[in-house]
Parts: sequence; C-alpha cells; structure tokens
Amino acid sequence: MQDQAEGLRRLLSGDFVRIVTLTSGRRGVGKTTTLINLAAALAKRGKQVMVLDEHQGAHSVVGMLGLTPYYDLSHVVRRERSLDQVMLTGPEGILVVPAGKGVQSLVGLGAEEQASLVRAFGQLSQPIDVVLVDAVAGVASHVLPLSLAAQELVLVVDPQAASMTDAYALIKVLNQGFARRSFHIIVNRVASPEEGEAVFRNVASVASRFLKVTLDYMGCVPRDDKLRRATQLGRAVVDAFPATVAAQTFRDLAEEVDQWPPPGGEDGQLGAFMQRLIQTSRAAAGEPGLPGRL
Ligand SMILES: Nc1ncnc2c1ncn2[C@@H]1O[C@H](COP(=O)(O)OP(=O)(O)O)[C@@H](O)[C@H]1O
Ligand SMILES: [Mg+2]
Repeated sequence: MQDQAEGLRRLLSGDFVRIVTLTSGRRGVGKTTTLINLAAALAKRGKQVMVLDEHQGAHSVVGMLGLTPYYDLSHVVRRERSLDQVMLTGPEGILVVPAGKGVQSLVGLGAEEQASLVRAFGQLSQPIDVVLVDAVAGVASHVLPLSLAAQELVLVVDPQAASMTDAYALIKVLNQGFARRSFHIIVNRVASPEEGEAVFRNVASVASRFLKVTLDYMGCVPRDDKLRRATQLGRAVVDAFPATVAAQTFRDLAEEVDQWPPPGGEDGQLGAFMQRLIQTSRAAAGEPGLPGRL
C-alpha cells in the first residue's frame, strides 16, 4: 500500500527515473536502431533521456550516429572526468554516455571508486527521466548485469528463426539463473503487423510452456530503409521522416513506455541503479553457470 502511494506521488511529481535495458538474443536484429529511435521519440514527448551505450566502435549508438567520443564511463570510474563531461548529445537532445570498458570493469572497483560512480550518477547537473541501456546482445557474462539491474527489460527480436531461438535462450538464462520474470518484447523489421504478432506468439508459446515468465508484446517496427538512412544522418525517424509508419510506431512505443507504472522506492533513482549494477556485476562474475566471467 505504501509502495503504491509512493509510486503515485512519484508519478504525479515526475520525480523518478525509469531505467530500461534493451537487449537481444543476437546481433543484427536492430536493437541499437530501435533504441535510438525510441530514445528520440521519448525526448520528443518532453522527456530527458540518457542512453547508456555498452558498445564501442561502428556499431555503438555513438558510432552509428556519427558522434565522436573523447571519454567514456571508465574515465568517470577513475574520477578523471565528470559524467557531464563524458556525455554526448544525440538527436532530439538525448544524452549518450559511452560506457566502453567502464561497465566491464565494475567488478574490480574498490569501495571508493564505487562510491564515486554512484555519486556521479546521483548528482547529474540535469534531472534524467529515462535511461535507455544498449546492452551487448546474447548471454555473454558482462551483458547480464545491465539487464538484471534495469527496472524494465525490452527484448528486441526479428522474424528470423535464429533470432527467436536466441531470444528464448536469453529469456531462459535470465529467468532460470536470475529469477527475472517479466520481459517486454518488440519485434523489429516486420513485413506486416500480422508477422509481428506471429513472431511474438512463437516466442511466447515456447517460453510459457517451459518457464514461469510474463511476456508483454509492445509492438512491431516495420522493415523500412528510412530507419537506416535516418541513423546515417545522425537523426531519428520521428525527426527526419515523421510521416512514416516507422515514425508513428516509435511515437506509440514511447507513449507506452511513458505509461508503464513508476518504479517503487529507491528503484526510481539513478544512484541506486548504479549501486545495483555494481552489485549485480559482482554476483554475475561469481555465478558458475555463466559462460565466461567478468
Ligand atoms: N526496421 C528496420 N528496417 C530496415 N532496416 C533496419 C531496421 N532495423 C534495423 N535496420 C538496419 O539493420 C542493421 C542492423 O541494425 P542494428 O540496429 O545495428 O542492429 P543490432 O543493434 O541489433 O546489432 C542496420 O544497418 C540498421 O540500419
Ligand atoms: Mg547494436
């Protein structure tokens, strides 16, 4: 009851941060494209969005948007730069934090470094409404902490059979290894809404037969080359091609995210998220069932 009252207060005051990790069973399904466009659509709704980018190089959010990173999260960890200095500005004013090797080194942090990282996220110069995390695909060990520490987990799947199989495998690891029960699903690159629904039903039917999970179908993104073109221009479809079905899709997805219930208690704070991320990284590193260690 108290949690509900607290949740309502936060919702009315807007005084919370939503932390959403986008992940996928394999590369190439369009996770980063989905993230950039969802981030921009949320920003267009007036949200201050921070993107935490676990990738480096050409396939990272930074690389795909043609931004030039000078620093990354590891500089914040080493207290050489503030978080404000590390952040880059993307389309619609989204703030992009290149995590680089910063996330992978969380396990080895001393108490003081941990505290300074938590503080860095807790004391940003501007309030953040939504954090979108672009996690590395699959069940590689350093991926999971980001997925586990997030309040909400979105799995991006495309209609290829291998993508569906890998999505299921990831759901299984997160569910059986870490008791994660609830997943949002976006189906990308569909020829029709029917195809999107069929892909979702396929993943959901296998998952519900073998696992105790709740899968929420958020919707599907059409196959549209304008998505690639917009990214190449360093922009999002809601801005570059606002009249397309793809742009409308991202406006709808952003509205949906906005309407999710607010996180309860401490979960709604950025510093607390960092704290949880560090703890989860350590737990995952010690987890014997995982392929590879941090
Ligand atoms: N809905 C879509 N329609 C057409 N092309 C897409 C779509 N989604 C992604 N792409 C393209 O597919 C390629 C892979 O997308 P990307 O977002 O990098 O995938 P991931 O992050 O999952 O590896 C990129 O060239 C991107 O522009
Ligand atoms: Mg990617």
